[in-house]
Parts: sequence; C-alpha cells; structure tokens
Amino acid sequence: MNYNLIKAPNSAEFGSITADIFCQAISDTVLPKVILPTGETVRDFYAALRAKKPAPFIYVQLDEYKGLGSQDPKLFSNWLARDILDPLGIDQRMIFKSDAPQPDLETQRVSQWLNNSGPVDLAVIGIGSNGHVGFNEPGSHFDQSVHVQTLAAETIRANKAYWKYEGDDFPSQAYTLGIGDLRKAKKTILLVKGQEKAAILQRALLGDMTVDVPASYLQRQAGLTIVADSAALSLIG
Ligand code: GLP
Repeated sequence: MNYNLIKAPNSAEFGSITADIFCQAISDTVLPKVILPTGETVRDFYAALRAKKPAPFIYVQLDEYKGLGSQDPKLFSNWLARDILDPLGIDQRMIFKSDAPQPDLETQRVSQWLNNSGPVDLAVIGIGSNGHVGFNEPGSHFDQSVHVQTLAAETIRANKAYWKYEGDDFPSQAYTLGIGDLRKAKKTILLVKGQEKAAILQRALLGDMTVDVPASYLQRQAGLTIVADSAALSLIG
C-alpha cells in the first residue's frame, strides 16, 4: 500500500496542513472537479481554506440525505454552502436533489454527470466509525456507482448528533457516490481525527481489503494522502 501520511499535531494545524495539501493537489488543474465531505472532521480544514481562498473548482457532492425538502436545514448541500462554498464563491456545484420525486432517475442523473464530465480530480473524504465512506455502508461493493443507501443505525445516531436531533423521523436513507466513483478520483485526501476512529483506521489500512470495511478500498488507491491526528493514529504507530 502506497500513501503519503501526514500527522497533524493539533486541530489548528490539522486544518492548515490540509488546506495547504488541498491547494497543492489542485494547483495543476484549471477548474478541477472536487469532492468535499461534511462532518466534524473537516471543520478546521474549512476554516483554514476559507482564509486561503483557493482557485475556483467545481464542487461535486459526496452524499446527501434522501427525501428532505429543499429548505431543510439538515441538508448537507446547505451545510457545505454555508461553511465553504459560499464563502469561497464556488458557484459550480453538482448536488443531489434530496427531494427528487424519482430516486432512480436522480442516481442516474448524477452517474451520467460523472460519466460525461470525466474522473474527479480530487476526492476529500472522511471515514465513519463503521468504516463508511460517503454513505457507503459496510457491504457496499467496490465497483458500485451512485446509489441510494439505507443507513446503518450507528450512522443515523452519529448524524443525529450533528443537528442535536432527538426525533424518530430522521432520514434513514441517503444518496451517495459509490466506491466505484471514488476509486476513479485522480487524487484522494483522507481526513481522520480522534481516538474513536483509531480502530477503524487501523482496520481500513492494515486489515483485509473487504466490503465489510468500505474504506479499505483505499489500500489500492493511487494518489492517496492521509492527514490524521495522533489519537487517530494511535493504533498504527
Ligand atoms: C458522515 C458522512 C461522511 C463523513 C463521515 C465522517 O456520516 N456521511 O461524509 O465523512 O460520516 O463524519 P465525521 O467527520 O463527523 O466523523
């Protein structure tokens, strides 16, 4: 397995190191296509990137809850708009329509967009504590494209926490780019923070390459950089 591993000493440096790597990774492409994730892990990175003001890129959405109205505050597209895309003035956005009346047509639309546009230049991704990437839950095949994914119970729990949501009607399904789409990315940056990710990071990088751990596809991913803090790396050394 061949990757570039960068250990970040603290949160602020995690953000600034990642922002530097991000800008470097897209510096040789005009209007690159870039996947960006949501989540707690990326907050410092987005703060640093807002200050750096990188060259324009085309934003490609990684994943989105299915079935929410276009004004729902829980939409990932709104989160990304607020945290990074609007502040940077990125107006070219390939985003999922959460409320699409025919989900099959929506997955086809996004798949076709990817096929027509060519491979993504840079995929920035996180990892869920069960090894999911985007919303590709354990069991997702490595050659799958855009699809609707039923969310694992622990993923719903972790996602409810973003919104301090305690109701029962939280989305149980989501749109996601597939691992097959992510494998086509020319470059990938995996961001991992915190002790609670240490065991799954170890399994993903050093365990079997298996659909039970979706992030283990990275073991064969060319152009991979991992930025992690010391807690996340505590089982890898
Ligand atoms: C979430 C998102 C992913 C994200 C991952 C890690 O459920 N679907 O896109 O990368 O899980 O999130 P966090 O950084 O909050 O741990």
